[in-house]
This record gives sequence, structure tokens and C-alpha cells, in this order.
Amino acid sequence: MKSYSSIISRSIIVLVLAMLCNGAPAVALGPGGIVIFDPDPDHIWNRTYSCLFVRDGPDGSEYGSDTVDPLFWPRTQYLLTGKSHERAVACLDSFLRSHAERAIQDPLRRVILQHDLWALFDWAASEDDDGLQKQRRELETRLSEAIRRLALTSEQFRTLPDTYEATVAARAFAPAYDSQNRQQPFLPPDLFRPDGPWVCLSARSVQPTAILHFTGRSRFLVFMKLPQGRDTTLAYTSKLRSSYEPLIRNEPGLEFLNLTLPQFPVGTEVALVRQMIGLDTVGKLVPTRLTESVQIRVYHAITPGTKYMNYINGPSSHDQDFFEFQMRRQQLFAGQGGGLLAMTPNQTEFATFSAHGFDPFEESSPLREQGVVLQRCPACHADSGIHSVQSRLQWMQRQSNREEPKPDPNTDPVVWETSVTAAFKENRREFKLLQNLWK
Ligand code: HEC
Repeated sequence: MKSYSSIISRSIIVLVLAMLCNGAPAVALGPGGIVIFDPDPDHIWNRTYSCLFVRDGPDGSEYGSDTVDPLFWPRTQYLLTGKSHERAVACLDSFLRSHAERAIQDPLRRVILQHDLWALFDWAASEDDDGLQKQRRELETRLSEAIRRLALTSEQFRTLPDTYEATVAARAFAPAYDSQNRQQPFLPPDLFRPDGPWVCLSARSVQPTAILHFTGRSRFLVFMKLPQGRDTTLAYTSKLRSSYEPLIRNEPGLEFLNLTLPQFPVGTEVALVRQMIGLDTVGKLVPTRLTESVQIRVYHAITPGTKYMNYINGPSSHDQDFFEFQMRRQQLFAGQGGGLLAMTPNQTEFATFSAHGFDPFEESSPLREQGVVLQRCPACHADSGIHSVQSRLQWMQRQSNREEPKPDPNTDPVVWETSVTAAFKENRREFKLLQNLWK
């Protein structure tokens, strides 16, 4: 990993999140149960999902019924010990024994359940020296078999919808930022247009650009748009790339921002899009156009900052407006606007990205660990303008490793990011374990 994710900035991020961490209460419950995959709460897919993913809060509410990521953390004991473990093994056995994979043929529902089980598999496989190896192995063998049986063929992958397009087409959200109504969520219709104003930024390295978000089960795409449009954005980013100015100035033991870096103008917007990757019948990673989340930041001001990195309450920490859209399975399956929902200013959740590893449900006061989604953003994006663009250290290509093959600069950045994400995942231990179990 490149030096950007330095111990200092990383631990600040982790620490801040530990304070701000946050989970959405189960909204997908019908009377008596989960009704995600079928209107009948007793449908085996609903029961399996509920048995594995829904967590009980101390307030009697259920959490995790339709979250982008399952509510599991590296230190989670749930499903690994006691009754929850016995129940999970029994649920998975019943799914496999009854060939429940045949109960639903819709490729969209299949790829989503597969993706959920894959996330759980990766979680189970993420630790291997905590004395729970046997329990982890019991889950891994069953999950891998269910994942394999749910796999789509290449033809079925081609039938999956573009849910970003569907959301834009439903006109559920404004098409642009409104400086008079700064909290109004918007989704730009031209985000993916290759010749449009949004430029996809790729490090064109052997590792994915959004390396801290990497799971290998999704691709993450970074976009930037300067207010004057595509050519200006391209000119700005190539100026940064060709400049000899270091991004970070090192002083013994400390790193400071290099404030002489060319700055972008007020009105600049950046986006981070997460799209699902599925596994086909031969275990190959296949990208889809199922958008799981979109995060957007708009710079309504650029206040000169200080040289301190991640200065949370610093002078520029109020320069941006934050937006997030998340996929909800229920809305997606109901064909409602591509299934993307805007996070409201007060919406809370339990953080799973860059969190501290402990399971809030297994702590003494779990609900305190919830946080407001949109209030978390400044924890990692508070510095002035370009200095708060976290992925800049990747796509500016400053520390590019000379050993790496020189990419063709004409390769489409989306294609590049997709293929390095897949290649990076294929080399990971948990993926090799999945492949071995499939054999
Ligand atoms: C724990 C730290 C953290 C928090 C909190 C966080 N982000 Fe980020 N964000 C990152 C990192 C790190 C990247 C760079 C991509 C990578 O390495 O995965 C990033 C990238 C982005 C990008 C792409 C442009 C860039 O800065 O590289 C956008 C847009 C973005 N985040 C928006 C948001 C929004 C909106 C929120 C709040 C809902 C948010 N982020 C919360 C850490 C964070």
C-alpha cells in the first residue's frame, strides 16, 4: 500500500470514526418478518436473510435488514458462538438441503443474495487466529456452496439493470446542486457520460484508486467536476499530475499538507460511486451496473486551510455540502427508481467503513455507536479544497512504482479500475479460500 495511508492519517480516521460511528433500524419488516425477496415473510430466502443478517438491538428493534453492508465487524462474535452460531449453521443447512437456490429465478434477486452471502463469507474468512477457526470453517463451507449455487451465467449478468440510470430516469431527485437549497439531494444524469463534465479519476496503478474502500466485491469509482466542465477538469488534473510539487511535506516524524498545490475553484464537485461485482458460474468476478451507493461532495466555498492534515474543526471544515445515496433492496425489487435512496440530514447508521473493529451490538451501549451519516463526512474530508480529496494521493500518481507495467493512457478509467479491482481481489487470501472450497 502506498505511503499515503500513513499511520498518522489512518489512525486519525479510525479514531474519529470510533467516536462518530454509527446503523439503520430495520425498516424492511412486514408484520411478522423480513419481506425483502418475496412478499411472504416465511419464504426461505427471507428466513435465511433474517437469520443471518438481522441483529437485535437492546431497544427491542431489529437492525441490518436492508443495509448496504451487513452489520458485522472484525471482532463480531455473532454467528460464531453460542445459539446464534447453531442457528446460522442450521439455516444454511436448510437452505442447501432444500435447494432453496431454485426457489427464485430472478437474476437481480439472485445476484443480491449472492453478494450478501459473499460479504458474510469474507467477514468469516477475515480472521484466522482467534480460537474460532472451527466455527468460521463451518460457516465458510456452507456460505461458499450457497454462493456457488446462486451464481448467474454471463447471459443472466447481461440482463441486470443499470440502477443509476433507472434512478435518474425516475426523476426522483434534482439533477444538479442548488446553491439556494443546499441540503437538497441531487443525482447528476451525466455522471457516467464518457464525454460529459464528470471525469473519472484513475491512478492507473496495479491497485484500485479507492484503495481504502476496497473489498473486491464492488468497484469504487472516483469522479471530479470543475464548474467550467470537462476540459477544465482535465486540464486541472493533468496540471496536478505533471507538477513536481510534493503533495505532502515531511518533517521529521510528521507530515504536513503542501499548500502551494494548485487549488480548484468554488463549485467543484466530487463523487464516489460503488457498484456491485458478482461471481459467475465459474467463479469469475463480473462487474454490474447495480449501484450500491453514491457519495457526493460540493465545495460551496474554498477557505484557505492550514498545513495540518485532517483538521476536523479547521477553518475549511464548513466549505462542503455532503450527500449520500444508498441502495435499498426492497425499493430496488419493487422497481422503485432504481432502489437508490437519499440519506436525510438526520439519518443514522452504524459505520462499517473504516470502523474500529468492535461490534457495537456486543458493547455495553450499542445504540450510542450510531451516528448521523452525513455528519461523519467532515471527519475525513475537512481540509481545504483539493487537500480534502482523499484519493488524490492515488490518482495524482506521485509515488508510482517504477516496477509497475506502464498502462496505456488511453484505457478507459472505468475499465481500468474494474480490471485492477478484480485482479487485486483474485490475489487475496479470502478469495483463494473461496475458490478452493468451490473445487
Ligand atoms: C473514515 C473516513 C471517511 C469518511 C467518514 C468519509 N469518507 Fe469519503 N473517502 C474517504 C477516503 C479514504 C476516500 C478515498 C478513496 C479510498 O481510498 O477508498 C474517500 C473518497 C471520497 C470521495 C471521492 C473523492 C475523494 O475525496 O477522494 C467522495 C466524493 C467522498 N469520499 C464522499 C464522502 C461523503 C459524502 C461522506 C459522508 C457521507 C464521506 N465521504 C465520509 C474516507 C472517508
